[in-house]
Amino acid sequence: MAAVGRFKHAIAKQLSLITTCCEPQILQAIRTPPKKTNAQFAVSLAKLAATLRQDPNVNLPNNPSIWCKATANKIQANDLIATATADGSNLNFGVQQTEFTKQVLQEVYHEKTTYGWAHIPKPREKPTVVIDYSSPNIAKPFHAGHLRSTIMGNFAKRIHQAMNYKVVGINYLGDWGKQYGLLAVGFERYGDEDELKKNPIHHLYDVYVKINVDAREDPEIDRLANAYFKRMEEGDEKALLQWRRFRNLSIESYTGIYDRLDIQFDMYSGESQIHDYIPHVYQHLQRQNLLTKTDDGAYAVDLEKYNLGKAMIQRADGTSLYLTRDLASLLMRRDKFKFSKALYAVGVEQEGYFKQLFKVAELMFPEDAWAKQLQHVGFGRINGMSTRKGTAVFLQDILDAAQDKIMDYMRNDTAKYELIGEDGAKMIADQLGVSAILIQDMKSKRNKNYTFSWDRMTDARGDTGVFLQYAHARACGIERKAEIDIRPNCDFDLLKEDEAFELVQMISQFPEQVEMSFTTLEPCTLVNYLFKLSHATSLASHSLRVKGSEPSVAEARMLLFWAARTTLHNGLSLLGIRPLEQM
Ligand code: ARG
Repeated sequence: MAAVGRFKHAIAKQLSLITTCCEPQILQAIRTPPKKTNAQFAVSLAKLAATLRQDPNVNLPNNPSIWCKATANKIQANDLIATATADGSNLNFGVQQTEFTKQVLQEVYHEKTTYGWAHIPKPREKPTVVIDYSSPNIAKPFHAGHLRSTIMGNFAKRIHQAMNYKVVGINYLGDWGKQYGLLAVGFERYGDEDELKKNPIHHLYDVYVKINVDAREDPEIDRLANAYFKRMEEGDEKALLQWRRFRNLSIESYTGIYDRLDIQFDMYSGESQIHDYIPHVYQHLQRQNLLTKTDDGAYAVDLEKYNLGKAMIQRADGTSLYLTRDLASLLMRRDKFKFSKALYAVGVEQEGYFKQLFKVAELMFPEDAWAKQLQHVGFGRINGMSTRKGTAVFLQDILDAAQDKIMDYMRNDTAKYELIGEDGAKMIADQLGVSAILIQDMKSKRNKNYTFSWDRMTDARGDTGVFLQYAHARACGIERKAEIDIRPNCDFDLLKEDEAFELVQMISQFPEQVEMSFTTLEPCTLVNYLFKLSHATSLASHSLRVKGSEPSVAEARMLLFWAARTTLHNGLSLLGIRPLEQM
C-alpha cells in the first residue's frame, strides 16, 4: 500500500466506527482538500450523505456543518492522525507530520524509479494492450497530427507499462493504396537514386508533389497510377519491389527520428500488411449477416440504428477501404497478441470513423470481450506548426528547429558553453528541444486545439519542458555538491519547516496523479502536477540549504530533495522525456 493509503485507511477506520458508513465507502470520499488548509486529507460529506441520511440519529439536511463539527470532536488522535476539523461540509484531517514525512520519503527511497506505481498489485498474468500510434503515410509529410499521435501513444504506452500491462506498440503505416501507384509513376519521371538514399522522406514527398501537379493536367498519369497499383494488388513482384524499397527506406529514416524522441515500436505494420485477413473480414461479416449490398454494387454495414450511418466495406470494383483494412488488422492483432484492450491515438477528426469501426467490430464478435475494449484516444489540432523551410512539415525539421532555438540561448551563456563544448551543447539542446515540444503538446487537455509557439515553449521561466528539465538538473546539482549519501533513516523531525512539509505533501500526491492520468489518459494531469512539484522544490531549495548545514539537518534535507527529484524523474519518464542531469 502507498504511504498515503495507510493514512487514508486510518481515517476511514475511525470514521467507520462512529458513523453508519463502511470503510471502502469512506475511502472513496477522501481527497486532497480542495482549498488550501493545514490539513492533508478531506472527507467530502456530499459523498457520504446518502448513507448518513438513513441513520435516524443524524439530522443531515439542515445542518451539515454541525454534523461535521460533532463528528470531528469524536475523532481521536493516534500515531497517524493528529487533528480533525470541520470545514463547511468537509471533514478535514491533519496527519502526524513527522510520521507522514518518514513514511512518504521512505517509500520513495525503497521504490526509487518505480515510485508512483510500485504499490499497484501485480497480476499473475499481465493483460496485453495494443497501442496504434504515430502511423504516418509514406510519401506524404509527417503532419502535426502524426506528431501528436506519436506523443500521446508513447505516453499511453509508458503509463500502461507502469500499470502492469504488456504493451504492444504498433506503427500502422499508411503504406498502401493508389497513391503508391502514383508515386511509382512519379519516380520514373523525377526520381533520383542519390537523393532517395540521402533523404528518402523529403525526396519521395518532392516526387509526390511534382507528379500530382502533372496529374492535374494529364489524365494519362491517373490511368498509369491505377494500373500500377492494380499490379501491386495482384502481387506483381517488380511493382512490389519498388514499393518495398520506398517503404523500407522510409521506415529506416523514421526510425532515426523516433530514436531522437526515445520512441521504439514493437512492430511496423501498416495497411499493406493485412491482405491475408481481408477475406476473413468478409466471412465474419457474412456469418453475422451484417453485409448489405448498396445500389451501385458496393457492400456496407448498416449502422443507422446506432446513429452511425453506413459503414462502407467493399467498393463496387471489389477493392477494400481504410475501414476494411482496419478490421483486417484487428483480426491480425487478435490472433498475434491475444490483446484484452486496444487503443488508437488518432486526431478527433477521425472520431466518427472510429465509432463506426468499433461498432462493426462489436457486431462482428458479439461474444468476445476484446471487441468491446477498443478505445479511440483522440486529440485536437495543432495550429501554426511550421518551420522556416516551407509549409510542409517534416518532423525532423521541427526537431532541428527546436534544437537550433535552444542552441541560440546556450551560446549566449559563453562561460557555460565553453565548459560543455559544442557537442555537449548540441546534445543538451536536442533533449531540451524535444522536451519543449512534448510538454507544450501535453500540458492541456488532449481534445483541445493549441497554437504552436516556439517562444512560449522554450521559455525557461514559464511552464515549459525546459523549465522541468532545469528543475531536474538543478536538483541533481544539489546532490552533486552536497556529496551526502542518500539514506532512508534520518531524523525526520528536522524537516519541519513549511517549505519542507509542503514539498513532502507534493511528493506524496504523485501516485494518485499517476492513477488519474492513467484512467483518463490525460497527460496534462501529470504535467501540471510536475509544474507544481518543481515550484515547491525550487521554493524549498531557496530556503533550506543542504551544503554547509549541520550534518543531521543536511542529511534529512538531502533525502527530501532526492525524493523530490526522483518523483520528477519518474513523472518525466512516464511522459516520454529523458530527464537531464546537467545542463
Ligand atoms: N495513417 C492514418 C492517417 O494518417 C492514421 C492511421 C491511424 N490508425 C488506424 N489504425 N487507422 O490518417
